[in-house]
Formats: sequence, C-alpha cells, structure tokens
Amino acid sequence: ETKPGKSILGRHYPSDQTTNVTDTILELVGRKLYDTPNHPIAITRKLIESVFPPPVYKNHIATYPVVSTKDNFDVLGFPEDHPGRSRTDTYYVDSKTVLRTHTSAHQHSAFQHIADHEENGYTICADVYRRDSIDRSHFPVFHQMEGARTWQLPPKNHYKETRLQQQQRRAQMIRGSIDAMPKHGLEIIDEAGPYNDHTNPIQIQHDPDDSQLVVEHLKRSLEQLVQKVFTAAQEARPDQKQEQLKVRWIEAYFPFTSPSFELEVFWQGEWLELLGSGVVQQSILNHAGLNDRIGWAWGIGIERLAMLLFNVPDIRLFWSQDERFLKQFQDGKITRFESFSKFPPCYKDISFWVRPSPASASPIGAESSSGVAVAAGGDSKKASPAETQPAAFHENDIMEIVRDVAGTLVEDVRLVDEFVHPQNGKKSLCYRINYRSNERTLTNEEVNELHQKVTDKMMQLPIEIR
Ligand code: PHE
Repeated sequence: ETKPGKSILGRHYPSDQTTNVTDTILELVGRKLYDTPNHPIAITRKLIESVFPPPVYKNHIATYPVVSTKDNFDVLGFPEDHPGRSRTDTYYVDSKTVLRTHTSAHQHSAFQHIADHEENGYTICADVYRRDSIDRSHFPVFHQMEGARTWQLPPKNHYKETRLQQQQRRAQMIRGSIDAMPKHGLEIIDEAGPYNDHTNPIQIQHDPDDSQLVVEHLKRSLEQLVQKVFTAAQEARPDQKQEQLKVRWIEAYFPFTSPSFELEVFWQGEWLELLGSGVVQQSILNHAGLNDRIGWAWGIGIERLAMLLFNVPDIRLFWSQDERFLKQFQDGKITRFESFSKFPPCYKDISFWVRPSPASASPIGAESSSGVAVAAGGDSKKASPAETQPAAFHENDIMEIVRDVAGTLVEDVRLVDEFVHPQNGKKSLCYRINYRSNERTLTNEEVNELHQKVTDKMMQLPIEIR
C-alpha cells in the first residue's frame, strides 16, 4: 500500500507526510469532459465562452491539474490559516503541491499571458478537486470556469483638462463597452450596494469612480450570461410556464477580489447561488506586470449550472460512459435529460464512538461550502492548515474512504444519528452509506464486500467502531 510516489499524467511526484491524494481520485484525472463532443460539460463550457468570446477574451483550457500551493493559495492572498488549505479539504500531492481546488490557481499566469500578449481578458476552463461530502450534487472532481477582463485607463494628468473632463474620458472607455452590450429582459435585484463600506470595500489604490464602473461592467456582463444560458434552458421546457428571469446580487468575500459579489438566479421557484466575482486585487495585477490596469474576475461551477440547465439529477452521471446518458446531448443545444430507470439503492449503516475532539477541530455538521458551490474552501468552516493536522475525527475522512473503496457506486453518505454518552461524554455517530449505481443493479454480495472494506479502512481513523 505504501507507494513511494504518485504518477499524474506522466509526471512522478514522490510522496511525503502531507500526501493524501488517492489512486481512485487520480484515475479521474485526464478525462477531459470539457472537451468531449456532445458532453453536457463541454456544451456548457462553450455556451459560457460564447458570451465571452475572442478577441477581447482569450478562451483557455488548463489541462494539467497539479499546481503549487503558491499558485493555488499564496499568490491569491489566502491567509496561512485559511480552511481551504486544510488537508481535510484539499488533495495534497506533496507538501508544496496540490490538485488545484479552483481555476483561480491559473489567474496569475493568465494575467502574465495578458501582459505578454497585450490582450485584455480571458476565460479558463479546468477540472478542479476538493475533498468533500458525498451526495448527489458533490463529486471530488468537478469543473470550473473563470473569466477576467482588464482595462488600461488613460492617464489622469492630461494637462488641458478639468478633473471632470478627465474622469469622463477615463470612464468612456468602460462605459462604451457597457453601452454596447445588448439589452436584456432580466429583473435585477441589487443587494450589494453601496459597497464602499467596511464590509466590501473599494481598494484604496482605486479611484472609486473607476472601481464602480468596473463593477457595473462585471455585473452587466454576467447578466448577459444568465440571459443567454437560462433563456435557452427555458426554451427547452415548452411544457412549463415561463417565469420572468430574476437575478440577485449579494455581497461576498474572496481573498483575491474587492469588492466581491455573488450572483443568484431565481430558477424553478428558488434562489440559486451561481457564481462568485469581484474587482481583482490590484496587488495580483501588479505582480503579473499589469500595474497600469484595473479589472474584474468571476468563477463559476460548471456541473451546478449544467445540472440546472439539462435537468441532470445526479452529478455522478457526468462521469457515466453509459450510452443512455451520453446519447441524450447535442453540441450547441440545451435539452432536457430524461432519467432512465433508477436502479435500486442499498444502504448500510456504520456506527462508532469518537473521542471528544479539541474545540479547534470539530467541523462535524458544519455546513459544507465547497463542491460545486462557489466559495473556494469556504470561509465559515473551522479546520486546521495542512501542517498542523491534529488526529481528530473529520467527516471528510469517511467520505474519502468511501470514495476510495466504492467510487461512483455510492450516491450519498449522511449522518443519521448522533448522541453523547451521559456517563463518559463520548460521542456516538451513525452514518448511512447509500450504495446505488446509475448503470446497473448492485448485488447483495457486492455491496456487502464494499461495505466490509469501508469498515476495515475506517479502523485507521481516530474512532471506535461499535
Ligand atoms: N475561485 C473562486 C471559487 O472557487 C471563484 C472566484 C473566481 C471568485 C474569481 C472571484 C473571482 O470559489
């Protein structure tokens, strides 16, 4: 079992104490769903690219998923103790190398590319990796797309102009491209302004007028995306009554943008978080040689969007090689997926005692914020950084064992019971593992065998099986 290292797309990485990437995860590397003809992930990528086309946006795909912790976290301004860096949340190849947790890992080199080629913007599509819970909307590998746009504003010190004239001339550059966007029919609720306060500040290096214009351009651009994509999805459902499309802007936080925003869409009766965005931290642009530019960036989870658009009920289906799934999609079209018959589930429970854990490491039941959600690693979770991992129980460790043993044969893993022993203060947890294939009926023997393997592997955790 103890191998000297990991091979990833032809490169070898010696393992160290931090390594936690499993062979099961590595088997999923290199599938290129974003480039598979007629695959919903590819269709969604192309749809997004069509709203952000060249020459203004250069459309990249980042095929190689291994990045440095520097690119994934440090250059983006993640603090040392940010939970996103934790080994419970992130797949480490070694202590300095991870499977990227978000497309922003390529932000720095994409900005350098812009600087070297005198371009203005980009989109990047990539497979990204997060240790997370197991359910129908979370899978350890998913896809993201990031976009950015920059402007080199004319200098302020034009000697014959008044301050107002200067401001207008600078503004015109961005204003012009806002005005050039087609009108959309969305209803917009903006709960994210005024944003020049302490919760979502304009950066001190920025002229507030410039920053506000960049924000306006960002918001209008992403509204174009919603209009294009969701109108096409509504058209694929002629049976359903068409609701007025509504979007809502709310404040957000990311280490690499300020001010920051999330976009929500009202879809089938619910507000759904769709993407994160904001004005790029000037230090990041400066570091890439873009000192004289200002710009925005956004990031979106593709599976989340594709599940809504194509009516796909289970994220694992995107990895299916089953013709009954693959045959249903066609390049350039949003169509409604018709579920083929579900195969029967088979659930097994596993109960165990956990030691009372130190206060700093008890994320059990804490809301999981990653997966296809927008926030990278989330900011609400308490966990510890990679280096100082305590031997406390973490729910994600069960998830990882289940994934490693059973892969896509598990639909979800849920905490179904929890109590504290009144005498000794030990906590008992019961998790229910729901085994179900999307492709066939699992036999009893098969499930028993898988579950036995899971149980055996759980002995490695700091728990006592009951
Ligand atoms: N990288 C962020 C995430 O994964 C999304 C994002 C990208 C937010 C760019 C702002 C700007 O959650």
